Amino acid sequence: MLTKTHRPKYLNLLKIRLPITGIASIFHRISGVLMFISIPFLIYALSLSVRSPESFEQVCAFFDNMLIRALALILVYSLAHHFFAGIRFLLLDLDIGLDLKTARASALAAILAGLAAFVVVVIGVLL
Ligand code: HEM
Repeated sequence: MLTKTHRPKYLNLLKIRLPITGIASIFHRISGVLMFISIPFLIYALSLSVRSPESFEQVCAFFDNMLIRALALILVYSLAHHFFAGIRFLLLDLDIGLDLKTARASALAAILAGLAAFVVVVIGVLL
């Protein structure tokens, strides 16, 4: 039997308007994947940086590049957002803050806390 549904026939990612909870969630997923992918590069950079003064200079030279610095900043923001959004998810897993109003407020709080931590870390590094 043919049934009529109102499901979308295609998903246009540019037209989907995510609620704040969805934004916090999708950034949590993206940040987790980004950090995971970066692990081998970061471990390699760390091991190289402690091998000798020359290889330390090599790592410094590698990071003396706008694109690499931009990627590093994205990773710092990823960790900041993932941390706070992750704490929020753990609280939700404990059935804390499940009602819509609180879930929206905690999503906004996690996003703002991630941004604030990112700014604090960047200012700390620059000073
Ligand atoms: C800093 C402390 C961290 C906390 C509190 C945290 C918390 C969490 C939580 C609660 C989840 C499950 C979310 C859900 O229920 O959908 C999760 C997922 C995940 N985390 Fe973390 N995490 C942390 C650090 C990291 C780090 C350092 C990495 C990577 C190196 C990472 C990678 C991931 C990935 C890939 C997922 C799966 C994302 C998804 O498919 O939705 N997390 N994290």
